[in-house]
Amino acid sequence: MDLNIIAKEKKIKSVWVLGSTSKVAQSICVELARNGCERFYFLSRNKIKSKEFSKYLKLKYDVFVEEKFIDLEKVEFLEKQKYFSVSDFDLYLITAGYLGDNELAKRNYSEAKRIIDVNFTSIIPWINAITIKERLNKKMALWIFTSVAADRGKPSNYFYGAAKSGLKVFSEGLISRCSNKKFSVRVIHAGYMDTPMTSGKAPRILCINTSKVAKMLLRRPFKRGIEYMPWFWNPIMILIRILPNKIISKL
Ligand SMILES: NC(=O)c1ccc[n+]([C@@H]2O[C@H](COP(=O)([O-])OP(=O)(O)OC[C@H]3O[C@@H](n4cnc5c(N)ncnc54)[C@H](OP(=O)(O)O)[C@@H]3O)[C@@H](O)[C@H]2O)c1
Repeated sequence: MDLNIIAKEKKIKSVWVLGSTSKVAQSICVELARNGCERFYFLSRNKIKSKEFSKYLKLKYDVFVEEKFIDLEKVEFLEKQKYFSVSDFDLYLITAGYLGDNELAKRNYSEAKRIIDVNFTSIIPWINAITIKERLNKKMALWIFTSVAADRGKPSNYFYGAAKSGLKVFSEGLISRCSNKKFSVRVIHAGYMDTPMTSGKAPRILCINTSKVAKMLLRRPFKRGIEYMPWFWNPIMILIRILPNKIISKL
């Protein structure tokens, strides 16, 4: 099906992104710009990376880009409610995340806290600011990236898995809360993607290209519920969930 037609039908003209320097976020934004999205709001940590990407989007697609910067490790701001002001966008996209060092996290609470904050605690106030009551009656979409690592803890990444699991359960509640509203919530339970996060850590053959992910997701921007990306991670995770601990302990 022609993505151009779909994007126009669904009117994704504006997008708000938390974690806009993420590779998958940038692939989604490029795909959106190609399909007529005009307004981009980027929240990210890395100013250089963000400005480079904004410049590229503006030059190539003649779009409007606003940028703000945030470090999700710095949780002091969590207490400042007025900090979290979010205006109306057709699509809200949350891609910020941090795999971290599981070994280090066992010994060093700062690393453990960093993993929990970037993947969970610091994301929550933003989701709350997006999903205010008045907005739920508007045709808008929220996409939240979690991970298949949230489905079962395993020795190699259980700090990250636990944080993503928190985000997943929180998002499930939100999916139900919005089930009879115009506002749609979609949780993307991603398997390996070809991004800096997995560089040298995942078998290349299992890593899906982020442009492919973007195209698949944008086929139905207002889809609701939990979605494995790509789909085959669903049967894999059904199996992983029932495997005995003896086997999981080797993963
Ligand atoms: N890649 C995979 O295989 C995979 C699998 C399952 C789920 N996911 C999830 O998919 C999402 C997108 O990840 P990706 O693969 O595109 O990875 P990525 O390219 O490494 O992007 C991670 C993003 O999180 C941001 N981030 C990290 N720590 C931050 C902090 N302290 N404050 C603010 N922002 C911070 C990064 O910003 P900087 O540019 O400043 O570092 C970057 O924008 C993440 O939520 C990830 O957990 C990825």
